[in-house]
Amino acid sequence: MFTARDPQMSLCQIWVQIYNFFCIYANFVVILHNFFVIDMNTAAEISQEKRHIGKLFDRIAAHYDGLNHLLSLGIDRCWRRQAVRSMRAADKVLDVAVGTADLAILMLRKGKARHVTGIDLSPEMMRIGETKAKKAGLEISFLEANAQQMPFPDNSFDAVTCAYGVRNFADLDAGLGEMFRVLKRGGELTILEFGYPNTGFFRWCYDRYFTTFLPFVGRLLSRDKTAYTYLNSSVKHFCYGDDFLQHLQKTGFSGTHFRRQTFGISYLYKAVKSDKK
Ligand SMILES: C[S@@+](CC[C@H](N)C(=O)[O-])C[C@H]1O[C@@H](n2cnc3c(N)ncnc32)[C@H](O)[C@@H]1O
Repeated sequence: MFTARDPQMSLCQIWVQIYNFFCIYANFVVILHNFFVIDMNTAAEISQEKRHIGKLFDRIAAHYDGLNHLLSLGIDRCWRRQAVRSMRAADKVLDVAVGTADLAILMLRKGKARHVTGIDLSPEMMRIGETKAKKAGLEISFLEANAQQMPFPDNSFDAVTCAYGVRNFADLDAGLGEMFRVLKRGGELTILEFGYPNTGFFRWCYDRYFTTFLPFVGRLLSRDKTAYTYLNSSVKHFCYGDDFLQHLQKTGFSGTHFRRQTFGISYLYKAVKSDKK
């Protein structure tokens, strides 16, 4: 690039060389940026996306399962299994943001639920879930409904679950409030949601993976320009760990605790609706 040791070189030439070096470097960064299209959306853009969240998931529904397992290297299956293992067996379970029904199917298979009702804003995600459930010989009641305004009476479910759905709610506290309302007293809440690893080097690696590789591959394979950058920005801007527990406690849940999964990439949250009035 430039060799400052050349005695013939004037100070001005050295500055020109340094300037050229930084221009080349800046161009390289811009090219890389455009290549991976690393647009980490702002909080305002994320809340805008959340208004059309059902449509966003409709667009990627066909690729959702495959990409999920590929991008998480199959670890998402272990996270769901851990969540289901943590559950007490229940009669009527509501799976909020059921999506393609991976969690609902697992609950039924493992005998943790006798009947599952799944609600979601994306008919396409549920259509795929319904096909999977039928293929497995399992019955799930799917319903297109908003988690923030559920069409169920108070105290109607023995347990409520939600896997990787809560960070998409336009109003988290309204969604948690609805979960609390429809849950019977003594009923158990199980939530899975992404977090961020809290150890230095792993956090750095994950950040690179999450902000470059994942949106790039997501875009390439799903052919959707915005969905995977939204998905990844929504995780970055969402609360996790103790901050999330505070939302649960504020809603009225008790016995709140969490378990970090794979260095904190995912979190398993547990809570109960106390049977004391
Ligand atoms: C990342 S997917 C998770 C799907 C599934 N639970 C799983 O574990 O793979 C998030 C789902 O949440 C749904 N969703 C987002 N906001 C919602 C809301 N307010 N009410 C109901 N479903 C919602 C989306 O349509 C999408 O299917």
